[in-house]
Amino acid sequence: MKFFADTAEIEDIKELAATGLLDGVTTNPSLIAKSGRDFIEVTREICALTDGPVSAEVVALDHATMMKEAEILRKIADNVCIKVPLTIDGLKTCKALTGEGTMVNVTLCFSANQALLAAKAGASFISPFVGRHDDNGFDGMQLISDIRLIYDNYDFGTEILVASVRHGIHVLEAAKIGADVMTAPPAVIKGLFKHILTDKGIEGFLADWAKTGQAIG
Ligand code: E4P
Repeated sequence: MKFFADTAEIEDIKELAATGLLDGVTTNPSLIAKSGRDFIEVTREICALTDGPVSAEVVALDHATMMKEAEILRKIADNVCIKVPLTIDGLKTCKALTGEGTMVNVTLCFSANQALLAAKAGASFISPFVGRHDDNGFDGMQLISDIRLIYDNYDFGTEILVASVRHGIHVLEAAKIGADVMTAPPAVIKGLFKHILTDKGIEGFLADWAKTGQAIG
C-alpha cells in the first residue's frame, strides 16, 4: 500500500520524504489555507520533494472553469495530479483530463456508486473519506471493502486512495482490505512507527549494554 502525506506543510513533507517511505502528497483547499502559503508556489515546492503524485484541487464548480484551473495547475510539474470533486462537472473534467494523459484524483467520495462512476470516468485515484464517513454514523471501512469488490469485479485501473484517515486502525484496515493508497496527516504516519514495547525494549537493551562497558567501533 502506498503512503501519501495529507498536508501542505513543507517541513513535515521533507521529514517524511527522508524516511524513504513517502509515495506522494495530497492537498486540499483547507490544507492550503492552513499553510498560509501561495497555492501555486507551495505546490511547486511539494512537487520537488517527491517523485510521486501531488494532488492539487480545483475550486471551480463548472466543467469549463475546472478545465481552465487544471490547465494552470498541471503546468506546475509533471507529477501534479488534478483533484476534482465527485460531481457531474467534476467527472466530465476527470474524463477530459485523463484522456489527455493527466492524472486525476476524484475526491469527496462517500458511496460505492460514486466510486463506480469515477472509475468509469477514468479516474487515476478515487478518494473515499473514511473519517468523515465514520463521523456521520456510517462505516468508512465498509465503503472501502465495497469499492475494492466492485473495482476487482470489473478490473478497473482506478486506485483506491483511502482519505480522511484519522488513526492507525484506519491504516491497518485499509491494508487488510487491499486499498492501493492511504493518505494521512503526518502525525498519523509518524504514529505508525511507535510502539510502547519497542521503546521499553530499547531502554532495556541499552541498560544491559551499558553494564558490559563495551562500545561498537
Ligand atoms: C484527501 O485527499 C483529503 O485531503 C483529506 O484526507 C480530508 O481529510 P479530513 O476529513 O481530515 O479533512
